[in-house]
Amino acid sequence: MFNIILYQPEIPPNTGNIIRLCANTGMQLHLIKPLGFPLKDKELLRAGLDYHEFVTMKTHDNWSACLESLQGSRIFAVTTKGKQRYDHIHYLKGDSFLFGAETCGLPPQLLESFANEQRIRIPMLTTSRSLNLSNSVAIIAYEAWRQMDFISEK
Ligand SMILES: C[S@@+](CC[C@H](N)C(=O)[O-])C[C@H]1O[C@@H](n2cnc3c(N)ncnc32)[C@H](O)[C@@H]1O
Repeated sequence: MFNIILYQPEIPPNTGNIIRLCANTGMQLHLIKPLGFPLKDKELLRAGLDYHEFVTMKTHDNWSACLESLQGSRIFAVTTKGKQRYDHIHYLKGDSFLFGAETCGLPPQLLESFANEQRIRIPMLTTSRSLNLSNSVAIIAYEAWRQMDFISEK
Protein backbone atom coordinates (compact mmCIF):
# COMPACT_ATOMS: atom_id res chain seq x y z
CA MET A 1 0.00 0.00 0.00
CA PHE A 2 2.90 2.33 0.88
CA ASN A 3 6.64 2.13 0.27
CA ILE A 4 9.26 2.71 2.96
CA ILE A 5 12.71 3.40 1.55
CA LEU A 6 15.86 3.35 3.67
CA TYR A 7 18.80 5.15 2.10
CA GLN A 8 21.99 3.22 2.94
CA PRO A 9 20.95 2.15 6.46
CA GLU A 10 23.85 1.50 8.84
CA ILE A 11 22.54 -0.04 12.07
CA PRO A 12 21.17 -3.62 11.88
CA PRO A 13 18.66 -3.50 14.80
CA ASN A 14 17.00 -0.40 13.27
CA THR A 15 16.52 -2.19 9.95
CA GLY A 16 15.35 -5.30 11.84
CA ASN A 17 12.65 -3.29 13.62
CA ILE A 18 11.61 -1.67 10.35
CA ILE A 19 11.38 -5.03 8.53
CA ARG A 20 8.99 -6.21 11.23
CA LEU A 21 7.01 -2.96 11.15
CA CYS A 22 6.59 -3.19 7.37
CA ALA A 23 5.59 -6.85 7.52
CA ASN A 24 2.93 -6.01 10.12
CA THR A 25 1.46 -2.99 8.35
CA GLY A 26 1.58 -4.21 4.73
CA MET A 27 4.27 -1.70 3.66
CA GLN A 28 6.83 -2.56 1.01
CA LEU A 29 10.36 -2.01 2.30
CA HIS A 30 13.15 -0.91 -0.06
CA LEU A 31 16.80 -0.85 1.03
CA ILE A 32 19.28 1.19 -1.01
CA LYS A 33 22.84 -0.13 -1.08
CA PRO A 34 25.48 0.01 0.15
CA LEU A 35 24.13 -1.28 3.45
CA GLY A 36 26.25 -0.90 6.56
CA PHE A 37 25.83 -4.63 7.36
CA PRO A 38 25.29 -8.00 5.64
CA LEU A 39 21.63 -9.03 5.34
CA LYS A 40 22.39 -12.09 7.46
CA ASP A 41 23.86 -9.98 10.26
CA LYS A 42 23.28 -11.57 13.69
CA GLU A 43 21.95 -8.34 15.15
CA LEU A 44 19.48 -7.96 12.31
CA LEU A 45 18.23 -11.51 12.83
CA ARG A 46 18.05 -10.91 16.57
CA ALA A 47 14.99 -8.73 15.94
CA GLY A 48 13.30 -12.18 15.87
CA LEU A 49 12.22 -11.97 12.27
CA ASP A 50 10.42 -14.83 10.56
CA TYR A 51 11.21 -15.81 7.02
CA HIS A 52 7.92 -14.36 5.70
CA GLU A 53 8.85 -10.93 7.09
CA PHE A 54 11.90 -10.78 4.81
CA VAL A 55 9.70 -11.41 1.79
CA THR A 56 8.37 -7.86 1.89
CA MET A 57 11.86 -6.42 1.40
CA LYS A 58 13.62 -5.39 -1.82
CA THR A 59 17.20 -4.20 -2.17
CA HIS A 60 18.38 -1.79 -4.88
CA ASP A 61 21.94 -1.15 -6.05
CA ASN A 62 21.44 2.62 -5.96
CA TRP A 63 18.86 5.42 -5.79
CA SER A 64 18.20 5.46 -9.55
CA ALA A 65 17.37 1.75 -9.57
CA CYS A 66 14.96 2.30 -6.68
CA LEU A 67 13.37 5.30 -8.42
CA GLU A 68 12.84 3.28 -11.55
CA SER A 69 11.01 0.58 -9.58
CA LEU A 70 8.70 3.21 -8.03
CA GLN A 71 7.52 4.88 -11.21
CA GLY A 72 4.20 6.62 -10.72
CA SER A 73 4.55 6.81 -6.94
CA ARG A 74 4.65 10.13 -5.08
CA ILE A 75 7.82 10.23 -3.01
CA PHE A 76 8.30 12.17 0.22
CA ALA A 77 11.76 12.77 1.69
CA VAL A 78 11.46 12.43 5.46
CA THR A 79 14.00 14.78 6.95
CA THR A 80 14.78 16.90 9.98
CA LYS A 81 15.30 19.68 7.41
CA GLY A 82 11.73 19.46 6.07
CA LYS A 83 9.47 22.53 6.07
CA GLN A 84 6.24 20.59 5.77
CA ARG A 85 4.75 18.83 8.82
CA TYR A 86 4.11 15.12 8.17
CA ASP A 87 0.64 15.30 9.73
CA HIS A 88 -0.50 18.12 7.41
CA ILE A 89 -0.47 15.93 4.30
CA HIS A 90 -3.24 13.90 2.75
CA TYR A 91 -1.55 10.64 1.79
CA LEU A 92 -2.56 8.48 -1.13
CA LYS A 93 -2.30 4.72 -1.62
CA GLY A 94 1.06 3.95 -3.24
CA ASP A 95 2.93 6.91 -1.70
CA SER A 96 6.60 6.34 -0.85
CA PHE A 97 8.69 7.66 2.04
CA LEU A 98 12.45 8.03 1.82
CA PHE A 99 14.51 8.04 5.06
CA GLY A 100 18.17 8.94 5.54
CA ALA A 101 20.98 6.97 7.16
CA GLU A 102 21.46 7.02 10.92
CA THR A 103 24.64 9.10 11.06
CA CYS A 104 24.30 11.53 8.19
CA GLY A 105 20.69 11.58 7.01
CA LEU A 106 19.95 12.11 3.30
CA PRO A 107 22.74 13.53 1.09
CA PRO A 108 22.13 17.26 0.41
CA GLN A 109 22.10 16.76 -3.37
CA LEU A 110 19.42 14.10 -3.14
CA LEU A 111 17.38 16.24 -0.76
CA GLU A 112 17.54 19.19 -3.14
CA SER A 113 15.90 17.10 -5.86
CA PHE A 114 12.67 17.19 -3.79
CA ALA A 115 10.30 20.15 -3.84
CA ASN A 116 9.70 21.77 -0.43
CA GLU A 117 6.19 20.26 -0.21
CA GLN A 118 7.71 16.79 -0.64
CA ARG A 119 10.17 17.24 2.26
CA ILE A 120 8.42 16.32 5.47
CA ARG A 121 9.44 16.61 9.09
CA ILE A 122 8.27 15.20 12.40
CA PRO A 123 8.05 17.96 15.03
CA MET A 124 10.58 17.90 17.87
CA LEU A 125 11.61 20.32 20.60
CA THR A 126 13.70 23.16 19.18
CA THR A 127 16.73 21.90 21.11
CA SER A 128 16.51 18.37 19.61
CA ARG A 129 18.61 17.10 16.70
CA SER A 130 16.83 14.02 15.44
CA LEU A 131 14.74 10.98 16.31
CA ASN A 132 15.86 7.38 15.97
CA LEU A 133 15.42 6.10 12.39
CA SER A 134 13.08 3.22 13.25
CA ASN A 135 10.94 5.48 15.45
CA SER A 136 10.63 7.98 12.58
CA VAL A 137 9.56 5.23 10.20
CA ALA A 138 6.95 4.02 12.69
CA ILE A 139 5.49 7.52 13.13
CA ILE A 140 5.15 8.10 9.38
CA ALA A 141 3.94 4.58 8.58
CA TYR A 142 1.18 4.72 11.18
CA GLU A 143 0.02 8.19 10.13
CA ALA A 144 -0.20 7.15 6.47
CA TRP A 145 -1.97 3.91 7.40
CA ARG A 146 -4.30 5.70 9.85
CA GLN A 147 -5.42 7.91 6.97
CA MET A 148 -6.44 4.69 5.16
CA ASP A 149 -8.47 3.76 8.27
CA PHE A 150 -5.96 0.94 8.95
CA ILE A 151 -7.22 -1.04 5.99
CA SER A 152 -5.86 -4.53 6.54
CA GLU A 153 -6.16 -6.33 3.24
CA LYS A 154 -3.24 -5.96 0.83
C1 LIG B 1 19.08 9.62 13.06
S1 LIG B 1 18.35 10.47 11.75
C2 LIG B 1 19.69 11.23 10.88
C3 LIG B 1 20.28 12.39 11.55
C4 LIG B 1 20.93 13.38 10.60
N1 LIG B 1 21.93 14.12 11.31
C5 LIG B 1 19.87 14.34 10.03
O1 LIG B 1 19.71 15.43 10.57
O2 LIG B 1 19.17 13.96 9.06
C6 LIG B 1 17.95 9.23 10.57
C7 LIG B 1 16.75 9.54 9.73
O3 LIG B 1 15.58 9.54 10.54
C8 LIG B 1 14.64 10.45 10.00
N2 LIG B 1 14.34 11.46 11.04
C9 LIG B 1 14.81 11.52 12.30
N3 LIG B 1 14.23 12.54 12.98
C10 LIG B 1 13.37 13.13 12.11
C11 LIG B 1 12.46 14.24 12.20
N4 LIG B 1 12.29 14.92 13.33
N5 LIG B 1 11.74 14.58 11.12
C12 LIG B 1 11.86 13.88 9.97
N6 LIG B 1 12.71 12.83 9.81
C13 LIG B 1 13.44 12.46 10.88
C14 LIG B 1 15.26 11.06 8.77
O4 LIG B 1 14.87 10.32 7.63
C15 LIG B 1 16.73 10.91 9.05
O5 LIG B 1 17.50 10.94 7.88
